[in-house]
Amino acid sequence: MQGNRLVLSSVVAALLSCSLVAAVAQTQPMPPVPAGRLLASNCFQCHGTNGKGPGFERLAGKSSLEVYKELKEMQAGGEGQGLMTKHALGYTDAQLRELSQWLSTQR
Ligand code: HEC
Repeated sequence: MQGNRLVLSSVVAALLSCSLVAAVAQTQPMPPVPAGRLLASNCFQCHGTNGKGPGFERLAGKSSLEVYKELKEMQAGGEGQGLMTKHALGYTDAQLRELSQWLSTQR
């Protein structure tokens, strides 16, 4: 019985170390995600990946100030049809600047 336990625990230990090695081997170093892109990723489902369409208005190619101003107007409820107002309201002013700045780097 003792011997069986010993065999079993070494098998478990061997399996564990195998899966650890596999997990380490699968971990690729990920390039850092710019904060602006992370914040803007919420927009991609409607405005296309990286704001490049297809979908609603293309965001790529607009200036940072243009996107920022439109989002501020939407926050105030003065522009858009409610859908964008809800989305814009989820961000702080600093976050809107950050994501607008990042979107403006997309062509
Ligand atoms: C659920 C879909 C949806 C999501 C998510 C969404 N949008 Fe929109 N967006 C729209 C629609 C629809 C319009 C056009 C109608 C309107 O103005 O309400 C629009 C319009 C805009 C406009 C005005 C474009 C123009 O040329 O007038 C900007 C700027 C914009 N969105 C930016 C964003 C940003 C930035 C995000 C992410 C924070 C985002 N949107 C997320 C649907 C969406």
